[in-house]
Parts: sequence; C-alpha cells; structure tokens
Amino acid sequence: MAKIYDNVLQTIGHTPLVKLNGSVPKNQHTYLAKVEYFNPGGSVKDRMALAIIEDAEKSGALKPGGTIVEATSGNTGVGLAMAAAIKGYKTIFVMPEKISEEKRATLRAYGARVVMTPTGVEADDPRSHYSVAAKFVQLIPNAYSTNQYHNPANEAIHYKTTGPELWEQTEGKIDVFVAGAGTGGTISGVGRYLKEKNPNVKIVCADPFGSILHDMFYHKEIRTAPHSYLVEGIGEDMMPDNVRFGVMDDFVQVGDPEIFQKTRDIVRKDGLLVGPSCGAALVAAIKYSEKLTKPSMIVSLFPDGGRSYLSKAYNDEWMRTNKLAESILTTTRVRELIDARGKKDAAGVKVGDDVASAIKFMRQHGLSTAHVFDSGKFIGILHARDILNALASGRVSPTEPVFHVVKTTMAEVPLDATLAELEQVFRKERVVRVRDAAVALTTADLADFLSAKEQA
Ligand SMILES: Cc1ncc(COP(=O)(O)O)c(C=O)c1O
Repeated sequence: MAKIYDNVLQTIGHTPLVKLNGSVPKNQHTYLAKVEYFNPGGSVKDRMALAIIEDAEKSGALKPGGTIVEATSGNTGVGLAMAAAIKGYKTIFVMPEKISEEKRATLRAYGARVVMTPTGVEADDPRSHYSVAAKFVQLIPNAYSTNQYHNPANEAIHYKTTGPELWEQTEGKIDVFVAGAGTGGTISGVGRYLKEKNPNVKIVCADPFGSILHDMFYHKEIRTAPHSYLVEGIGEDMMPDNVRFGVMDDFVQVGDPEIFQKTRDIVRKDGLLVGPSCGAALVAAIKYSEKLTKPSMIVSLFPDGGRSYLSKAYNDEWMRTNKLAESILTTTRVRELIDARGKKDAAGVKVGDDVASAIKFMRQHGLSTAHVFDSGKFIGILHARDILNALASGRVSPTEPVFHVVKTTMAEVPLDATLAELEQVFRKERVVRVRDAAVALTTADLADFLSAKEQA
C-alpha cells in the first residue's frame, strides 16, 4: 500500500529508540537513546515548532502572511522556518553569537532573517537575544512571538507525543529518563506523561555547570553565579515557565570537557553523529546510574545531530583552544584534590571565637579568608572584607562571636566535578564549598595541587 506524506511536517516525531553499547559502561544497566535527529528539521525542536504554530493559528494569534519572531539557539529556528516555508510565514531569528555558523546558515537557507546578539549578557539586558526579539515583535506589524520558553504548547506536545512514544517503545519498562532543559519543554512534558503512567519513573535533568537550574531546584536561590559554557541549547540563566520542577527527581551537573569528550565517544563507538547536548544527557545518565542498585532501563534524550558542530565539537583544534581535550584539569576530580590535600586545612576558627581573635588568626597565617567550625564541623567562611564592613558599619564589635559575620551560603561544586569546573567557578569566587564533603576549597588549594602535580 502506498504511503505518501502530504508534506514533510507529517514526518515529525516517531523517532527511534536505540541501545547504546560502546559509549556506556558495561554494567547491569541498559542505556538507550531517543534519537531526535531523525526529525525532518534535524532536532527535537521540530515537534514544538509545529505545535506552537498550529496553536497560534487556532487561537488567531498568527494570521496568514504574518512574521514569526523567535529568540532561539537555532534548532527551534529550523523547525519554525521549515513549517513557515510550507505555511507561507516570514521568519526572524535572534540568537547569541556563540551559536555555530552552520546553524545560522541553515536558517538563512530556509529563507529566514538571522540577527546576532552578544553572548553572556544578562537576560534583561536590552542587548540580550530575549530583549532584541521582544523589540522586533513590538515594531513589526502582524508579528508573532513563539515565545518557546513560556509557551504552554511546547511542554504540551512532549506530553502528547514524546512521552507516549517512549512508553510504547519501552513497553512501560523505562526506569529513568534523562534530558537537558533549555526551555524545559521536553523534560517537563515527557516527565509529566511518564509520571502519570508510573510515578516510580525517575526524571533526571542534565544541567551544565554555569546554569542556575540546579541551584533553583535544590535551594530555590542562586548560590553559584551563572557563567557561560560551551554546550549549546541546555541550561539557563533565568527560569522559563516550561521548566516544571514538580515532575523532576534529580539534577546532575555536567561540565564542558566531559560533555564534549562523551559526545565524540558516542559517534566513534555507537555510530551516532550527535550534538553536544546529547553528550551532556549521557554523561548525566551514567553519573546517575552509578547510584542505582537495581538493573535499570535508562533513556537519554538526544536532541540533535552533529553536522552543525563540525567546526566545534568535531574539530581537534577547537577542542584544544577551548581546553576541552584531555588534560589534568579535565581528568582530575575534586575528590582527588581533597584526598591529596589531606587534613592540612583543619586550621580555622570556631564559631564562638570573637572577631578580634579571628582577625589575629588570619593575620598570623596570612589569610584573607578562614574556615569556621562548629563542634569540629565546617559551617562556613569568614572573609576579611566582610569583617571590615561589619566593623566599619558598627554591625559587630570586636568582642562578639564570629558567628555574626560567617558566610554560610557560597558557591558549590559536587565531589565528582572535574578541576576544570572548579577552576571555572574560581574565576568569580575565592572560596567554594564541596557538596557531599562539607569542606571548602580556596584558589590556593587548586594552585597547590597543580604545582605539586607539575613537580611530580
Ligand atoms: C541542542 C539542544 N539540546 C537541547 C535543548 C533543550 O530542549 P528543551 O528546550 O525542550 O528543554 C535544546 C533547546 O534549545 C537544544 O537546542
């Protein structure tokens, strides 16, 4: 029987679920990948692009001949541009400069207009891709902003299609679903569906170091200042409405070097030419699986293909320039630094010591910061600068306990972070708490460790 699609949009979805063999550890678990580059525009975003346009047509927000404006990292753009080409809309895409040239060229090929904005500016800065897109919508008559971050049709299409596909493909045997969150639409929609089918399915978010989502999930506040990173499309510096923490169980932080190395592994050992956010999902899946005691079926969602990253992830020179190739920083974990440091840092002040003696202690040891202990347990850090501010403003007197000036919330990294991530956080912070180890590290600890290795 003939099977002819009316147009290419009908081929969106129903992507294959593929077992990974070479790029995953050999253990009791099964690692599967939902390979979204099989979509006609080449990514998971085709699903939501079409859904958002159809939703806007239904509501009347998008009228015939209208202009679609989107702040996008490229893949959503391709989905929208593809649908717009068929349905007769104009398109304008606004994106940060870090987005690869291949992605921009692809959009132009579909007839879209592409506008670049600086990378690393705050979301509310008038130069950010969010702000510039909003300005276009205001200025162009009959413009429609697809607003992928907050548009409910985004999450809804994954609830309607991606979630059920996974449930059927695994015959309900899926134990863990792992995905990154850019807008959050994929993980939230799939998560909501799978949880309804089986509340025991774990929904795990792969979050790049530098994104605020991990802190917002666990602490409801930003503890580690956001910083830029190289993996595209996942992680956030603001909270999209489509990120629904209610359906998520865990966040696993992942760093650029491990992400890019794993991405290349997936191609060479499993034959799937994927983009870096796929590497991110798989690194998180493997880290998460290490704590599972029962044999589990773990599905990672692979959002896009690797052709758009040939000049980046698949270029050795680019990998070296960006310190992503293997080095002591990318292969050593924070755990090893703490082991090497041993008990050296036990010196510090007690929470009940007075401010005057803490200052004396810091001067004697030539320190600008000191660890603070309560009954032998590390609770926070004393900064000379904070003591000065508190004394100068009369907020504390020299005879009062240091408890009044101790800083208990600070930037954090997990024990299994690499030294590359630690170094990245140190660009903005002088002291970092190691989660799960209740110790803090200073820039001097990292410098000591590296120089000792250098000499060894
Ligand atoms: C390459 C890539 N991976 C992952 C994602 C994340 O998907 P979602 O926006 O559904 O959270 C995106 C989103 O822009 C992306 O472009």
